[in-house]
Order: sequence, then C-alpha cells, then structure tokens
Amino acid sequence: MTILVTGGAGFIGSNFVLDWLVGGDEPVVNLDKLTYASNLNNLACLQGDPRHHFVAGDIGDSALVASVLRKHRVRAVLNFAAESHVDRSIAGPAAFIETNVVGTFRLLEAVRAYWSDLDEGERAVFRFLHVSTDEVYGSLPPYAPAFDEQHRYEPNSPYSASKASSDHLVRAWHHTYGLPVLTTNCSNNYGPFHFPEKLIPLVIHNALAGKPLPVYGDGRQVRDWLYVLDHCSAIRRVLEAGKPGETYNVGGWNEMANIDVVHTLCAILDELRPRPDGAPYAAQISFVKDRPGHDRRYAIDAGKIERELGWRPVETFETGIRKTVAWYLAHQDWVREVTSGAYRDWVAQQYAGGRPGI
Ligand code: NAD
Ligand code: TYD
Repeated sequence: MTILVTGGAGFIGSNFVLDWLVGGDEPVVNLDKLTYASNLNNLACLQGDPRHHFVAGDIGDSALVASVLRKHRVRAVLNFAAESHVDRSIAGPAAFIETNVVGTFRLLEAVRAYWSDLDEGERAVFRFLHVSTDEVYGSLPPYAPAFDEQHRYEPNSPYSASKASSDHLVRAWHHTYGLPVLTTNCSNNYGPFHFPEKLIPLVIHNALAGKPLPVYGDGRQVRDWLYVLDHCSAIRRVLEAGKPGETYNVGGWNEMANIDVVHTLCAILDELRPRPDGAPYAAQISFVKDRPGHDRRYAIDAGKIERELGWRPVETFETGIRKTVAWYLAHQDWVREVTSGAYRDWVAQQYAGGRPGI
C-alpha cells in the first residue's frame, strides 16, 4: 500500500510526510511542482529512505499523475498542493486559478480514471482526501457562531474563491461519479517549516532582524490558529475513519486577534532571545495599510470531527507557539536559506511604503 501526497514539499505537506513516516512504514509518493513555497530541505532527513519517493511535477500533468498512480498502486491521494498565500492571490490571481481550480480538476480526472480501473475491493477502500481551508466560508461578524460544515460558502479573496471552487469540484466528483472523497476545511496553521511570508514566521523573522513587524489595518482581525502537527493528525484520522462524501472542519478552538498573536510572539522572544539593547520587541510593531477585502473574522466549530471521529487538538496556542518560536530560533539556517533570492523581491514589492497588496 502507498499513499500519494501532493504538495508534500510545502509547509503542511512536508510536516505531514515526516509525521506519517514517524507513525508507520507505509510508503509515500510525494508529487510537488517545487514552487517558491516549497523546500526539499524540509525532507532532507528522508534522503535515501526507501519509504519516500519524490516526484517533481504538476498536479495538472494528467499523464504524469496517471503513471505515478499506476506505478505505485496508490490506495489514497492526499491533495495538499495549492497556491496558498492570500496576499499573492491579490497581487496575481492567475496561478491560483491554474493550480487550485484547473490543477484540482485535472488531478480529479486522473484519479477517477485510475480508480475506475481498480478491482471492486480496491475501489471500495480507495480515498481522495482534499485539504482545504476555513477561508471558503468568508468573514464572520464578531459574535456569530463559528463555521460548521453547513455554513454557506462565501469566499472573498482570489485564494479562497479558488479553494472554494476546488471543494465544489471534489464534492461533484463524489456526487456524480461516486469517487470516495473526503474534504477537510482547516483554520490557520503555524509551526515548523512555515514560509516567512505568513504572519507568524514573518513576525519572528522580522523581529530577530530588527525590522518592523507589519500589522495590517487595526490588527483586530481574528483567526483560529492550529499547530500544524495537530492538523496532520486530523488528516490522518479523517483518512482512516472519515465517511466518503463528508467534509470535516478542523480547528484549534483558539480564536485570536492578529495584534494579540504579534504581542505573544514579542513576549516569548523577549524571554528567549532578548534584544541586545534590552528594549521589548513590541517596539518594532508597525501598523500598515490594510489588505484589500481583508476578512475580519474566521472561527471554526470542530465539533463534528470530535463527535464522529474522536479528534481534538493536542496543543494549546500557548504550548504550540512556544514550540514554534523555539524551532525558528534553532533553525536560523533554514530561515536564511528560504529568505534569500525571490523572497526578498516579494517583500520589497509587498511592503513598499508600508502598503500591502496592490
Ligand atoms: P504551501 O504554499 O506552503 O505549499 C504548497 C505546496 O504545493 C508547495 O510545495 C508547492 O510547490 C506545491 N504546489 C503548488 N502548486 C503545485 C502544483 N500545480 N502541482 C504540484 N505541487 C504544487 O501551502 P501550505 O500552507 O502547506 O498549504 C497546504 C494546503 O493546505 C493547501 O491546499 C492550503 O490551501 C491548505 N491549507 C493551508 C492552511 C495554512 O494555514 N497554511 C490552512 C488550511 C488549509
Ligand atoms: P496570513 O498568515 O497571510 O494568513 P491568512 O491571510 O490566510 O489568514 O495572515 C494571517 C493574518 O495576519 C491575516 O489577518 C492577515 C494578517 N497579516 C498581517 O497583519 N501582517 C502581515 O504582514 C501578514 C503577512 C498578515
């Protein structure tokens, strides 16, 4: 038995692959296009490990996907591959439509062809698990109940609209063709290997570099934060016990305003790596122009996955964020490597004159 992970050189995908192989010996084929967001060094410890087969390629390359599925007799596909950064989707949405919508469509078609040819027993246990986001539900008013699986889709950014489209395709491939699909909609992840274009690693990186900590608008936007390894365990649980055709919301029961996240990071850094001048890192906070169309609040009701599959996160925000800061402090080489080159061009464009977005 083998699973196919797409996007397994990115943030969540690489955490998932590493965690999967800690938990067992079932091989993983890892198909990744190696975009700017990927980093094969995340998987360096798997070099020479026969349980990990890396394939450089696009989920939209139907012939490649078909041959990988057949060659490895894949029993489940986990689709992490995506363009994932909201600000980049505002600056240039085309890649999001290409990978998240067209790529998912092509992947579904290649998987459907392969699945149709399996014998009856293999077809029955086969799974296609689509990793998606809470952002498809849009923005919540301050005291509205958290998103459950029945919440209507109201995506507001090119990123969330492209993920919503892919969720609809996955749903339709189940309803129309019977493909045994599972969808997870998860809140904001944080943890090791998080690319420093996203809020938490960006703040840690800028703080240590003595640079401004950019907070969009008033910083009162609310997100639910989940430690990445808790997301990985939720995906494993859904793969193992989820009901085909169902969707499961995954979250950390942990809503926080961005400005409070930034202050928490500053306080941990003050303790673990005080500034040479003794001043608090919070002095570097800089409020910048808001993201266009910025969603005010996301919140996840993760009750269904707990009731039906017995999953709950292990980490609290307090324990997870400490581990995360400690990881970044211990892996400054990793940060240096990923923040060279093209990363610098992005930061120069995105934060020029304190103006995020276009
Ligand atoms: P990421 O941007 O860090 O990694 C994405 C990976 O996909 C990269 O390695 C990239 O090279 C690869 N990729 C991109 N286009 C591809 C293509 N056409 N074919 C093959 N590979 C391709 O993203 P992430 O944060 O790890 O997110 C993984 C998945 O989880 C995404 O689907 C995202 O929408 C979803 N998600 C992310 C979060 C979060 O907080 N990061 C939360 C919920 C859901
Ligand atoms: P981000 O990590 O980009 O994730 P998402 O937009 O998918 O939720 O951003 C998390 C929150 O932090 C979001 O409300 C935007 C905000 N943010 C800032 O305030 N400053 C920044 O420099 C970045 C990258 C994000």
